[in-house]
Amino acid sequence: MLTETFKVDYQSILSENQYSLIRHPVRSTRARLGDLLDEADSNQQAEVYGQGELVNEFEKEIAQLLGHDAGLFLPSGTMAQVMALKIWSEEKQNTNIAFHPTSHLELHEQHAYRELYRLKGVLVGQHDQVIKLSDLQNLSTEISALLVELPMREIGGQLPGWDELEAQSKWAKEKGVAFHLDGARLWSCESYYQKSLKKIASLFDSVYVSFYKDLDGISGAMLLGNESFIEKARIWLRRTGGNLITMFPEILAAKVGIKKHLPKMQDYVKKAQTIARYFEQCDNIKLIPVNPPCNLFHLVINQQDEELMPKVLEWSKHQRVTLLPLPRTCTLSTSRFEITVGENALKLQDEQWQKLIKSFSQAIR
Ligand SMILES: Cc1ncc(COP(=O)(O)O)c(C=O)c1O
Repeated sequence: MLTETFKVDYQSILSENQYSLIRHPVRSTRARLGDLLDEADSNQQAEVYGQGELVNEFEKEIAQLLGHDAGLFLPSGTMAQVMALKIWSEEKQNTNIAFHPTSHLELHEQHAYRELYRLKGVLVGQHDQVIKLSDLQNLSTEISALLVELPMREIGGQLPGWDELEAQSKWAKEKGVAFHLDGARLWSCESYYQKSLKKIASLFDSVYVSFYKDLDGISGAMLLGNESFIEKARIWLRRTGGNLITMFPEILAAKVGIKKHLPKMQDYVKKAQTIARYFEQCDNIKLIPVNPPCNLFHLVINQQDEELMPKVLEWSKHQRVTLLPLPRTCTLSTSRFEITVGENALKLQDEQWQKLIKSFSQAIR
């Protein structure tokens, strides 16, 4: 296992590098606040407990973009999604909610759905694959809601095919199951489906999106759904302490992110797919999935992190290029990395990335 000191050194040394493959440039807090100034209107007040032009207009804008009646801006996706599932479970009078074993709810939220909301999780689908219609048809428990994540982060950004997704939406409708979208990274899905965000989101009864990942905001999320769903979500937001007096910096940053990064998402996806091919050409690096549909993919290297990472650091310092973040998961013999492509990768030509990746692959042997 890597020591905490190594991790801190790795992050700080790599932050000095000239080029990076990892998502967006890291900026100081001052620079980040500066980026918001152009979006801030000198005649507009901050919203108060969720009421005000800035937040309410933005909620309408995103609801329209995603084809839902209403939206609610919240501090986090963790707060948003369990609340959505609680609302559906109350409406359907059934505490069973279903999601994939690698869902954020199962892995990263200390089981808030169970501990706070008294909901029962039903795990559906194979660990390393997207959920399939047959998994749903084989469910032996009745459920009130099904959460589907697009793209599925923990398995390298995989997506189900469009027909499959439509069939799952139809299955949910027929069974009276609420179909909820974990769209933390939904922004990158348009090019794979060749459908608008609105069309994709319209398959779902409720949707959560994030503003601080691909869109580079400060923090913040939005829930989308029909008016009555969002009214109930506003009550849960108050109950859970998420109805803050103001979140105007987060809202401004989200608006900046929508303007700046959403139009470039297809470029990020294309660049990710090109760069993924270069990694695939290295016999000591495994790409997951083999054909990344989004701007996200995973890499597996058959070396323990302690053995591998000093070589990665050495190469990065020498080249002044950051290719890998710290490993996301490790076993005794493998290290797995998550690559999300954004603005940073666009700063080098494809051939330059190809050369760098080849040199990297040789350096870590
Ligand atoms: C797929 C997915 N869902 C939900 C969340 C929760 O988002 P937040 O950090 O805003 O709570 C995350 C955060 O990483 C995520 O990756």
